[in-house]
Amino acid sequence: MYNLECIDCGNKYSKSDVVYTCKCGGLLDIIYDYANINIDMEKLKYEPPTVWKYRDLLPITGNPVTIYEGGTPLYRCDRLAEKIGVKELYVKHEGLNPTGSFKDRGMTVGVSKAIELGMKTVACASTGNTSASLAIYGAKAGIPAIVLLPEGKVAMGKVAQALMHGAKVLSIRGNFDEALALVRTLCDQEKFYLLNSINPYRLEGQKTIGFEIVDQLGLKVPDRVVLPVGNAGNITAIYKGFKEFRELKITDTVPKMCGIQAEGASPIVQAIKSGAESIIPESNPETIATAIRIGDPVNAKKALNAIRESEGTAETVTDEELVQAQRDLAQLEGIGVEPASATSVAGLRKLVEAGVIGSEETVVCVTTGHLLKDPQEVIDACDRPILVDATIEAIRDVVFPK
Ligand code: F0G
Repeated sequence: MYNLECIDCGNKYSKSDVVYTCKCGGLLDIIYDYANINIDMEKLKYEPPTVWKYRDLLPITGNPVTIYEGGTPLYRCDRLAEKIGVKELYVKHEGLNPTGSFKDRGMTVGVSKAIELGMKTVACASTGNTSASLAIYGAKAGIPAIVLLPEGKVAMGKVAQALMHGAKVLSIRGNFDEALALVRTLCDQEKFYLLNSINPYRLEGQKTIGFEIVDQLGLKVPDRVVLPVGNAGNITAIYKGFKEFRELKITDTVPKMCGIQAEGASPIVQAIKSGAESIIPESNPETIATAIRIGDPVNAKKALNAIRESEGTAETVTDEELVQAQRDLAQLEGIGVEPASATSVAGLRKLVEAGVIGSEETVVCVTTGHLLKDPQEVIDACDRPILVDATIEAIRDVVFPK
């Protein structure tokens, strides 16, 4: 049993309503009857490690549209921890989901809900990963998907996925924020089901990142969770996961949520630093991390709540800093991530250097997407392969330079 509830005015909607925001314009959250939910973590040990392991806390009753999303590794990263200067560092590598990003967790729930509601077409705007994921879950469900992308600003791997899995891919002469406004209008006019993270069902799937971190740490809660912030859905969702486990007395605390944005696209960080109630949108966001090239995050209000309520923080990183973190993850820990994901580690490093995060803390960084999503950025950031003649002498000359 659950309801949709407005976070501003408390207005309620039922699970059969096709609704994304409240009549008052407020964001919606999904609220369960927690008193009647009983989760036995011992029993859950024997369930397959997917999002659906936690189905008692998910808003779908029938058979879900699933390709075994979730269950990603939580790596203990001692070499990176030493370099950054924290005692215990883990990386939750969401790039190892079926389509290569955390979006699959939200899409398995969101597309399942679309089917449950009898919707005939699904749609989203995207900086890339959401569109790839929607294309794939749409294909699996046998329902058409329409995706709007900002022209020239989406990494190649993501466009390739959306195209091959059969979505109708529209390249908009505008940025992500404009594409999102357009797809919201299109969905209202045509009764397409909107699957951006303003749709609260998406966030229900993504909150399982929080459940899994607790599960993988042996029912412990880390001091901090650090992650990239774009449209600000994921930080909200993960925080909700931790809060629900506390509500159900599986844990007794929540981590401090730390949101990291690129310097050129940082409205959430600016609001946290200035203490402002709401964000000031950026009209021309810019960063090499195209996944989070977003100036007007729709979930800003929820994300500001998550950061403030958990006594967390927010920080910006430069493109140079995030590329260095991408290299460190790859070369110290064998974790290949796309640029946006590396902001978590770049941000952690900055917050440790500034003394905001203490060296004795246990920290989890969430890396949200796989390295192969954005091969062009990687090629640009690395040296070219060394071309040699096909002789052992030529090879030895390179391997053992004089
Ligand atoms: N990391 C990656 C790799 C992303 O693709 C995104 C968002 C984020 C972080 C930020 O997550 O929006 O929940 O704060 N990508 C969206 C997309 C906007 O369209 O794929 P958020």
